[in-house]
Amino acid sequence: MKKLVIALDGPAGAGKSTIAKAVAEKIGYAYIDTGAMYRAVTWKFVQTGHAYEDEFIGELSEKMVIEFQPRDGVNHVFADGVEITNFIRTPEISKLVSPLSAIARVRVAMVAQQRRMGEKGGVILDGRDIGTVVFPNADLKIFLTATADERAQRRYKELIANGMKVDFEQVKADLVQRDYQDSHRPVSPLKQADDAILLDSTGMHIEEVRDAIIKMIGEKEK
Ligand code: DC
Repeated sequence: MKKLVIALDGPAGAGKSTIAKAVAEKIGYAYIDTGAMYRAVTWKFVQTGHAYEDEFIGELSEKMVIEFQPRDGVNHVFADGVEITNFIRTPEISKLVSPLSAIARVRVAMVAQQRRMGEKGGVILDGRDIGTVVFPNADLKIFLTATADERAQRRYKELIANGMKVDFEQVKADLVQRDYQDSHRPVSPLKQADDAILLDSTGMHIEEVRDAIIKMIGEKEK
C-alpha cells in the first residue's frame, strides 16, 4: 500500500490534534503535531528569560531539536531531550506562540524539520500551513473546522480537565484573537489550500470525524 503524506490544517480548537492522533493510531501512521513544535520554541524562549527579539528567537529555533514519542495514547514532546508535554498548552504559551510563529526565521527552521520528519510518507501532520507550504504536494489535504463557539467549548473543557482555572469567555476571546493573527500574518497564514477538502466537525463526535478521514485515506491508498 502507498504510504501517504496527509495534511490536516485548520483554526485553533478544531480538534486537529485529537483527530490526527486517533487516525495515526488506527492506521499505524506517524503523527507530527506542528503546533507543538512552535509551542516548544515558545517554551524554550520563555525559559531563557531573554527580551522578545526576532533575531534571538530565530537563532534559538534553528538550534532546537524537537522530537515526538507516542506512548500510552499520549504524544510526548521533547525539546533538546527534555520532556515538555505538560508545559506547552498553558494560556501563557498559547498567547505568545501566535506572534512567535509569525517570525519568518522560526518558520523556515520548523518547516525544514517538518519536511525531514515527513518525507518518507506514512505520516499525518496537523497545523496551519501544511497543505499550503510544508507539503503542497501532500496526497490528501483536509481543512478541519468548527464554529468558534464549539471550538472554544472544546478548548475550555480541555483546560479545565487539566486542572487549570479559566473563564469560558476569556478562552473564546483568546482563541478568536489567535485565529485572526494566524490568518493575517504575512508569512504562511492559516488558509485553506485550494485542493483541500473542507470538513466541518461542528456537532460531530471524534470517532465520526476520525472514520470519515480514514475512509478518505483508504480511497487514496488504492
Ligand atoms: O495547533 P496549536 O494551537 O497547538 O498551534 C499553536 C500555534 O502555532 C498557532 O496559534 C499558530 C502556530 N502554528 C503555525 O503557525 N503553523 C503550524 N503549522 C502550526 C501551528
